[in-house]
Amino acid sequence: MKTTIKPLAMLVALAAVTACSNEQVEEKDSQQSMQKETMNNINIWPALDFEVKQDAEVEAKVKVLLATMTLEQKVAQMIQPEIRDITIEDMRKYGFGSYLNGGGSFPNNNKQSTPEDWIKLAEAMYQASIDDSIDGSKIPTMWGTDAVHGHNNVIGATLFPHNIGLGAMNNPALIEKIAEITAKEVMVTGIDWVFAPTVAVARDDRWGRTYESYSEDPDIVREYSASIVKGLQGHADGDFLSDKRVISTVKHFLGDGGTEQGDDQGDNIASEQDLFDIHAQGYVGGLTAGSQSVMASFNSWHGEKIHGKKYLLTDVLKDKMGFDGFVVGDWNGHGQIKGCSNEDCPQAVNAGLDMYMVPTDAWKPLYENTIAQVKSGIIPQSRIDDAVTRILRVKFRAGLFDKPSPANREYSGKTELIGADAHREVARQAVRESLVLLKNKGNVLPLAPKQHVLVAGNGADNIGKQSGGWTVTWQGTGNNNNDFPGGTSIYDGIAEKVNAAGGKVTLNVDGEFTDKPDVAIVVFGEDPYAEGHGDRDNLDYQRGEKTDLALLEKLKAQGIPVVSVFISGRPMWVNAELNASDAFVAAWLPGSEGNGVSDVLFTLPNGEVAHDFTGKLSFSWPNDANQAVVNKGDDDYKPLLPYGFGLRYGEENTLGDDLNAELTIDANAQLKEVFFDGKMHKPWLMWLVSGDERLQPNANTHTLNSLSYRTVDRLVQEDSIQLTFLGKERAGIRLVSKSNFREDLRSAIENNAKLTFMVNVLEKPTAPIVVSMACQKAESSDDNCGAAIDVTDDLSGRLHHGWSQVSIDLACFAKKGMSFGDMVAPFELITDGKATIQLSNIIYDPQIKEVANISCQ
Ligand code: BGC
Ligand code: BGC
Repeated sequence: MKTTIKPLAMLVALAAVTACSNEQVEEKDSQQSMQKETMNNINIWPALDFEVKQDAEVEAKVKVLLATMTLEQKVAQMIQPEIRDITIEDMRKYGFGSYLNGGGSFPNNNKQSTPEDWIKLAEAMYQASIDDSIDGSKIPTMWGTDAVHGHNNVIGATLFPHNIGLGAMNNPALIEKIAEITAKEVMVTGIDWVFAPTVAVARDDRWGRTYESYSEDPDIVREYSASIVKGLQGHADGDFLSDKRVISTVKHFLGDGGTEQGDDQGDNIASEQDLFDIHAQGYVGGLTAGSQSVMASFNSWHGEKIHGKKYLLTDVLKDKMGFDGFVVGDWNGHGQIKGCSNEDCPQAVNAGLDMYMVPTDAWKPLYENTIAQVKSGIIPQSRIDDAVTRILRVKFRAGLFDKPSPANREYSGKTELIGADAHREVARQAVRESLVLLKNKGNVLPLAPKQHVLVAGNGADNIGKQSGGWTVTWQGTGNNNNDFPGGTSIYDGIAEKVNAAGGKVTLNVDGEFTDKPDVAIVVFGEDPYAEGHGDRDNLDYQRGEKTDLALLEKLKAQGIPVVSVFISGRPMWVNAELNASDAFVAAWLPGSEGNGVSDVLFTLPNGEVAHDFTGKLSFSWPNDANQAVVNKGDDDYKPLLPYGFGLRYGEENTLGDDLNAELTIDANAQLKEVFFDGKMHKPWLMWLVSGDERLQPNANTHTLNSLSYRTVDRLVQEDSIQLTFLGKERAGIRLVSKSNFREDLRSAIENNAKLTFMVNVLEKPTAPIVVSMACQKAESSDDNCGAAIDVTDDLSGRLHHGWSQVSIDLACFAKKGMSFGDMVAPFELITDGKATIQLSNIIYDPQIKEVANISCQ
């Protein structure tokens, strides 16, 4: 039978799904008992002694201005749209209080936008905001951006090590300099406001944002937060928010680093005391130093989303701690509150959110709904007035009403400051100080530059990889060395040292050579990722595939001393790689100045050490792939290397070559890509779809227009699902990546994997039924692709046969146009007709030996 059913993704317009990209997982029943017990414990949250005091003049100006404003103007101050979704004319008409560019979002949608392009947009938005011809408002808008390791969305900017490396550096004075430089480069492009610092205290290293955290320990985070804020905004008693400074945001409030299983946007179940002692310390530091805004977090606390949690946003942050700046939401974070959508969410404002971050075209209905909700009394007028007072207070403090327009400020257009040598010098110093030496057997390091050095590994000459996520693009993927003018790869730095000293350097990713080298430096590690896309099930490096280990062992077997430089956004279980290395350096994500690495690895030509290692672990290093939660101060603290560890030259090496390298997770299972086996595996989610309707199952039964769903038992309770298709419209189940992010599943194809699933057909299909997949050709493009295979005859033949396994060669899908490197939906089962089918164990399995039982048609 031939059918023309296409992958659901291509039909149920991907755009509609993207609108739900903040997975609206229904929240757990709120477990408030614990909170009630401590609710009255006023001792937990101290009133902070802010360095920036309220100023009577500013307060008076705010009052006068507020009194002149219409409701529409007030609500506009509370709406923060994204540059991809508004025009200059929208700004003129509505007068938004602020706007943002998300990660990997550029003026004119052009990655290669020049600083002039950025300023042009900033100036036009600003001028439109103070143009009162339509909205009657002359309040300047402000532009917020994620300059989280330098001005990272701008080509050519200085990129500093990500926070995890800066934590290992533990140098608050240098951190302040880094922040000041970041502010400068941001100001060159006419931008007012930076969404940093992230003060998450990451406790479970499976979290994809671990690298955005300075430390698992709150002490460094508290101190750094104050230094960064001062570097960005200036000192309260100095040039505070002068036109050489930007507004800062301490984020994400509260408890983002402490979610269960390290789930991004997940649930934090810490006690209130721990919430303060561990997760709130960055706010103590940053708010005391004068940070003017706080970003609400995507995560929940005991099952309730923070964006809707009045106790934390209002009672704790504003009332008890006394914060008088404003609270901005995270990327449609309000839409995740129970009962809210991106377009409609009075709950957030009522809980204490002052500004909605509302990318996508949801801004317009949200603006209109919010106005209506104030009129109908759902949102009290006093709450709006408070929110707008806070926003205006910050604008007056930042001098926005008096400063020249963005194109005319002190640093605007001084493009020579973007990636300036002096800035890169500071970044290079930070790289040197962030490196942590884990192993140095026989003092193999430092290296003399005058010898033959082989440089291997796919991280060696790869500035994108060494820079991680939030680098030009949101995920940090899709960049090559040309996207980093002025930057250096780790290899570049090595080559410079060795060549200058008259040595010889060979670059070969696979470690091949003609003349035997004296030493090999192998640079390898994690590929870039951001946010939930980096969530992992365990800390095993390379998921059991171990190709880098093979490279290290190959070199070792030839008697070549091996120096490993490990690039990663978190500590990982690398016992086998450590065993195969003579020296091992944790380099984290150093950023654009790769030459900082060779500064430390090599001596001067005369043998003197120019730069010793000074970095110390700000995260405990795991001794097992499953040891994801190991933190300083734990009762039974048994990491491989403790918090604070870091060798210096000449210090006694502690790690031998015989660490236990036995994988405690099933390596074979690791090779499989398991999507569903009773539960969904990260980063995949299940959607039920019927026509335009879609939902993520969170109960044992669901009924959509043309599909009913229930969980059933095959081997154990609820390890399977039953789908009854009702034949009213096209319906199906769709497994998708979190946030519809493109996942790279090419290894499944390379390993000749098959798509397998268990099936039990209870009612014969009355119309064609297809298994399909969907891909997306480029990050944030609408260029969709995919492939479908008709399984109608096969499934019909299995009617009433009980459970059996279906297997299809993935190559079939590849042949039909599926691009496995750009996977968005690895499995869909769709029909227009009726049928009842039970499903379980949906897997890409490279290990099944039997030939596929459904042939390619
Ligand atoms: C992130 C924030 C970021 C925001 C704007 C969100 O997805 O969680 O850290 O500031 O996007 O790009
Ligand atoms: C944006 C990021 C944002 C993310 C959240 C991306 O499209 O560019 O800034 O954090 O979406 O899902």
